[in-house]
Amino acid sequence: MISKYYVKKLEKKKDHLSILWKDNFESKFHFMWLRDNCPTAIHPTANMRVFNILTVSKNIFPKKYKIEKNKLNIDWSEGNHTSKFNLKWLRDHCYTEINKRKYKSPYVFWDHKLKKNLKKIIIDHNSVIINDKHLSKWLNLLHTYGFALIKNAPTRKKSAFKILNRISHHRETFFGTPFEVINISKPNNTAYTADALRNHTDLPYFEYAPGYQFLHCLVNEANGGLSSVVDGFAVANYLKKNEKDIFNILTKTHVKFKDTDYTQKAVRILHSPIITITKDNDFNDIRFSMAAMGAVDVDPKKMKKFYDAYQYFASLLQNKKFKIDFRLEAGDIFCFNNRRVLHGRTEFDPNSGNRHLQGYYIERDEIIGRLNYFNNIKV
Ligand code: OGA
Ligand code: ZN
Repeated sequence: MISKYYVKKLEKKKDHLSILWKDNFESKFHFMWLRDNCPTAIHPTANMRVFNILTVSKNIFPKKYKIEKNKLNIDWSEGNHTSKFNLKWLRDHCYTEINKRKYKSPYVFWDHKLKKNLKKIIIDHNSVIINDKHLSKWLNLLHTYGFALIKNAPTRKKSAFKILNRISHHRETFFGTPFEVINISKPNNTAYTADALRNHTDLPYFEYAPGYQFLHCLVNEANGGLSSVVDGFAVANYLKKNEKDIFNILTKTHVKFKDTDYTQKAVRILHSPIITITKDNDFNDIRFSMAAMGAVDVDPKKMKKFYDAYQYFASLLQNKKFKIDFRLEAGDIFCFNNRRVLHGRTEFDPNSGNRHLQGYYIERDEIIGRLNYFNNIKV
């Protein structure tokens, strides 16, 4: 065993055991935490906690404790119970150490320069189907860049289920799966026209907007209909560094998003900031769609400033410095983090040829959960 797993000194303090490890790191393990994490507290196959915290009092303490071989043994003051902890497990779960670690963001920001290096984010369809390493690479790109382009997929309808199911199940919505991105008469959504779509995130009016979107191109023979993509986190980061007031307005002002699709018997409304951040001060999500924005109902004292900030953010999201324009080809699957990366298209001429994409959603949890599995992350 490596030295950090050996104990130099074990001491009982008022409410915790203190362990000084051989590498001189000192851990605190609180009595209740230890009792709650006794290995017998975990179901052997379900791997879930069966111990009920209500069966001990808050005053529980180790009556006896000692290190024996590679274990810490504790006889508890209550319940006539002994716990035997693996020292390696204790050190690996040492929350003194975990809380000292500096947070490291998984995200790699990008801008228009990625276009020169687009190969970086391109993966072959069949390689993902047959090889877990390529699947894992795809997941990693989705998680870090929020954007990947699958090439050489079949162009049969619904055929993208096969690659999506290499990850997990899809996220269903009222649009159905897949949803058909074609030009229809009496469209219930502006995506189902031949009009340009400004860079946006989909379905921002859902409390839990779909984490990822896969747009599978079956045919793209019409004039126009170029795709665009922009890293919303990179743009938000630019604001955070250079326009702090605007950044603060966009992270603090709750604005109204809504959907009143005429084919639905539902009225969907959500108030949320456009940019949200995590407990670690990293970016959580971007909700941005001029199309799905309701009539903004912020306080009159804040309206002018909000619109200034919103318009400025909108201008950056369309700015050449940040966005990439490209043309989807039949057999491409354009995959992106829908709560980070914005997508759009230019207008197309439906009389000049067919254009048909099929859309799928999948949750962020599914991407990250699979990635953790491939990276052998232990909990
Ligand atoms: C959509 C969408 C883009 C396109 O369906 O959500 O934005 O290229 N489509 O048609
Ligand atoms: Zn869209």
